[in-house]
Parts: sequence; structure tokens; C-alpha cells
Amino acid sequence: MNRISLTRHLVEEQRLNNTIPAELRLLIEVVARACKTISHAVGKGALGEVLGTADTENVQGEVQKKLDILSNEILLEANEWGGHLAAMASEEMESIHPIPNRYPMGEYMLLFDPLDGSSNIDVNVSIGTIFSVLKAPEGMGAPTEQDFMQPGSKQVAAGYAVYGPQTMLVLTTGNGVNCFTLDREMGSWVLTQRNMQIPEDTQEFAINASNTRHWFPPVTRYVNEMMAGKTGPLGKDYNMRWIASMVADVHRILNRGGIFMYPADARDLDKPGKLRLMYEANPMSMIVEQAGGASTDGKQRMLDIVPTKLHQRVPVFLGSKNEVARVTKYHQE
Ligand code: AHG
Ligand code: MN
Ligand code: MN
Ligand code: MN
Repeated sequence: MNRISLTRHLVEEQRLNNTIPAELRLLIEVVARACKTISHAVGKGALGEVLGTADTENVQGEVQKKLDILSNEILLEANEWGGHLAAMASEEMESIHPIPNRYPMGEYMLLFDPLDGSSNIDVNVSIGTIFSVLKAPEGMGAPTEQDFMQPGSKQVAAGYAVYGPQTMLVLTTGNGVNCFTLDREMGSWVLTQRNMQIPEDTQEFAINASNTRHWFPPVTRYVNEMMAGKTGPLGKDYNMRWIASMVADVHRILNRGGIFMYPADARDLDKPGKLRLMYEANPMSMIVEQAGGASTDGKQRMLDIVPTKLHQRVPVFLGSKNEVARVTKYHQE
């Protein structure tokens, strides 16, 4: 097998398409290196004393796991000194993290969900890291939260690492989606899937069905129609999967199609869904679109939403194009 490393892939992509300037390449490689460190900690589990809960809550009101905090620290430390960033923002930090004065300031901004799938940490089920890269606005002074309020369509790169039976890195810089597998012995990322494509149609859906009683009518209608199977209005049998780690659910969809939903529901009208626009929905939407899929908040294209606050939540419908179009249409009717 002719092994293409992440570095080689990024260099060649720059030569071909001119989409990965040196600073962006450094950024991606630094994030990928941090994910290796996180993967190593995840792999140690109890032996590394990384499992279990910390006695703190994040700004979202979630109890933090030790690995949420550790992964956040690993990403911060890895990315501070390189001179490629102006600021960072994370699910686990209340406010933005400008690059300290002792380091040069770069032109990119990095956002991340350091550890996705926290409820799966202690049960040895796949978890991951999600990241999104924006450009700092032209002529920006000291970075503020406002500088981050850019729609997802402005992302210059997005990706995730999934820590499963294998550790993989899925990456887009706006020119298709590629997947790298971590060679643990060599410590290198090796290109293993090029130009991933999500089939337009699917017979598989992912939703936390324990919330059925809280759903709004368009979601109830859609799920009921899928559950009705071959003799129902959609004319086919569907299968259901819910891993409860968005990275793992999205990774399945990238590989064999499907639709992933985390809708808003009637429990708390001030809380439109569970997932966060900037750390989860936007990067995953860029990846999904780049793989030929679609992503909406039920009403509009996810990547067109202009954020109003850093930790904003959104309903999420993403995956196979035709199914996302259907459930989006139900919301408009
Ligand atoms: P996080 O662990 O980063 O807080 O995100 C968890 C998210 C997402 O990964 C997953 O799809 C969803 O929460 C699971 O929610 P349920 O607990 O409702 O299954
Ligand atoms: Mn969380
Ligand atoms: Mn998450
Ligand atoms: Mn998280």
C-alpha cells in the first residue's frame, strides 16, 4: 500500500487547489496531533485515571467529565504557541480564549467540542473531537466574541476525530472529505478514504426516540412515516441506530448514508435543541455538504445561519440529501 500521510496530503492539496496555505496546514496538523494525544488518553481509560466525572459544570449546565476538561486543555496547549491562531472557543469554556500576548497572533480562529459523546466515555463506546476553523475578520484588533459570529459557510476547514476501534480523522478544507486512520505504532495519520460520499437516499435514521412525546408535529409525522415501513407512505422499511455520540453517528452516515436528527422539542421553548451551532452543527454540516449530503435546522440551510451567541443551540437534521429535504419540507408545510 502506498501510504499517504496527512502532511503529504495537505501539501499536495495545496499544490493542486491552492486551498491550504502554510498556516492553515500548521493549524490542521497541530489539531491532528492534539487528537492523537486525546486518543492515547482515551485508550488508557481507567489505567490512565481519565474516566469519571469532575466536580464541575460547564456553561451549558452539563456536569463535566474528566476527559472533557483534559481534552480541552490538550487542544488549548497544542494550539497556543504556533502563531497560526488569533483566538479559540470551546464548548467547555464560557468565553473565548484569545492567544496570550507572549505568542504571535495568527489569522485563524479555532472552535471545538473537545470531547463529543461524554455519556459514552465510561462505557467504552466511541467518542470524538469536533473542530471548526474560521478566518479572523479583516483588520481585527483584540479578538472578541463578536468576531466569531460568522455563518458556517465561512468555515475554511472542519473535521472530527473519532476514537473507536480505530482512531480516525475526517477532514474537509472545502474540497471534498477525506478520512485518515491513525497508525498507532508509527504515530502517523494515513489517508484511508478519499472523497467520501453520502448516498442521496437511505433506509436508516438516528434520533433519540425517548423524546418522542416532546417532539413537534413535523418530526412526529416523519418518524411515524418511517416506522410505518414498506406499506406506509414512504414505501420502504427503515432501520434505526442511535449511538449518542454525534461523531460516531455522523461517521456511520458518511460511510453508508442515513439521516441524523436532534430536533428542538416542547420541553423548553428557550432551548432550541441540544446541539451547539458553532462546535457541532456547523463543522458537521460542512463535512456532510462536502460529501454530497445536506444539513438544515428544519427550516433553513445550517451553514446560512448567522450566530448570535457563542454557545447557541440549534435543531439538527443532516445526512442523505433526499431525506433531509423531506423532513425540511414537513417543517415548511
Ligand atoms: P457532548 O458530549 O459534547 O456534550 O455532546 C453530546 C451530544 C451528541 O454527541 C449526541 O448526539 C447527543 O448529545 C446525545 O444526546 P442524548 O443524551 O439525548 O442521547
Ligand atoms: Mn458536553
Ligand atoms: Mn458534542
Ligand atoms: Mn463535548
